Amino acid sequence: MLHKETIEIIKSTVPVLEIHGTEITSVFYTRLFDNHPELLNIFNHANQRQGRQQTALANAVYAAAAHIDRLEEIVPVVKQIGEKHRALGILPEHYPIVGTTLLAAMKEVLGDAATPEILNAWADAYQVIADAFISVEAEMYEKAARVPGGWSGFRRFVINRKVKESPLITSLYLVPEDGGEIASYEPGQYITLRVKPEGDSYSHLRHYSLSTAPGKPYYRITVKREDGVNGEGAGVVSTWLHRQAEEGTVVEVSAPAGSFTLNSDSELPLVLISGGVGLTPLVSMLETALTKQPSRPVVYIHAAKCGSQHAMRDHIEQLTVQHPQLRSYVIYESPEQEDQCHKTGYIDLELLQETTDPGSDFYFCGPVPFMRAVYSHLKAMGVPADRAHYEFFGPAGTIEQ
Ligand code: HEM
Repeated sequence: MLHKETIEIIKSTVPVLEIHGTEITSVFYTRLFDNHPELLNIFNHANQRQGRQQTALANAVYAAAAHIDRLEEIVPVVKQIGEKHRALGILPEHYPIVGTTLLAAMKEVLGDAATPEILNAWADAYQVIADAFISVEAEMYEKAARVPGGWSGFRRFVINRKVKESPLITSLYLVPEDGGEIASYEPGQYITLRVKPEGDSYSHLRHYSLSTAPGKPYYRITVKREDGVNGEGAGVVSTWLHRQAEEGTVVEVSAPAGSFTLNSDSELPLVLISGGVGLTPLVSMLETALTKQPSRPVVYIHAAKCGSQHAMRDHIEQLTVQHPQLRSYVIYESPEQEDQCHKTGYIDLELLQETTDPGSDFYFCGPVPFMRAVYSHLKAMGVPADRAHYEFFGPAGTIEQ
């Protein structure tokens, strides 16, 4: 338990964190990688460059500080981050490294304002927060290894099949090299791949949603090749998976994780909304809902650039024919000549009002501007936050516009 005075000091530093939070975590990452370059095998270099990880960590530290005397209120957030940490292989011994570095960064940024009293209070608070993460993650490691076909850490999988879904999007079918059983998963969950392209000094870890319903002898992921536009670098792992990896190539995989999952106990109508390659977790949810809950009405809305970039179109059309409880709509940003779609442009409030019942459960995934727009439309329709489920690609961001 933290002393009352410590809690007061931590809470009084929250406004300072608000101002300096991102700066502190930026200094933190520079120091972390200078002193522990081996951690570059774990952290996503692209997220570092774009500053997204800095913001995510700053927000998490701020949230923890604001809730330091009632951490139980942020357990869902701790669990969501813990899922990612478990999938990445973060271990208890990593926590003191982060703690020491974070304190040093605070001292550097805040200067004299960071009195020994404040730094001591933060050291104590960090320990409490770290212990909460470590214990949540220990349970997750234990559970991942305990389930049938499960394992802890990374396991070798062979790329059994590659199927082009569009010029930029390809599905990969992965089977375990040891020929054993694989753990089941919840529709919406992801697996994490660890790859080390030839000539690269570091391993790279990436999360990919499983793009088909569970219950198959393989995991399927569906990956968009990120070529690098608007000054952003090309995706190291996505281009490797598209261009270098072949059928027969081995990748390391950690067991399925993630809390963006379909609630199959709900009997409310279901609405799934995806933008581009954000369709992956939603197709898994769609296939599951159609077979497991045949009387549940489902609306599936997908936005793509145009017909030639529309992945899995035939599959969704086929599902719509086979399952009368499914209605599906397609929106193309800029259709090509032959394209057939329900609407041109973007998913807007009018379309959602026309095609969905606000009393439904909503799940959505896609690029950040798409996510924010969909969320604000749902809010305008009066959909409460606990029925608007979403997942960002990469580090979690802010959903409010
Ligand atoms: C991701 C918080 C400790 C490594 C994250 C994210 C948050 C976070 C908010 C983003 C989650 C998302 O993607 O949505 C924290 C907090 C910690 C902590 C509050 C301490 C109490 C650690 C430690 C390590 C670590 C000890 C290992 C050295 C990572 C990595 C990612 C991550 C590699 C993924 C980031 C990326 O590659 O983009 N953490 N973390 N974290 N964390 Fe932690």
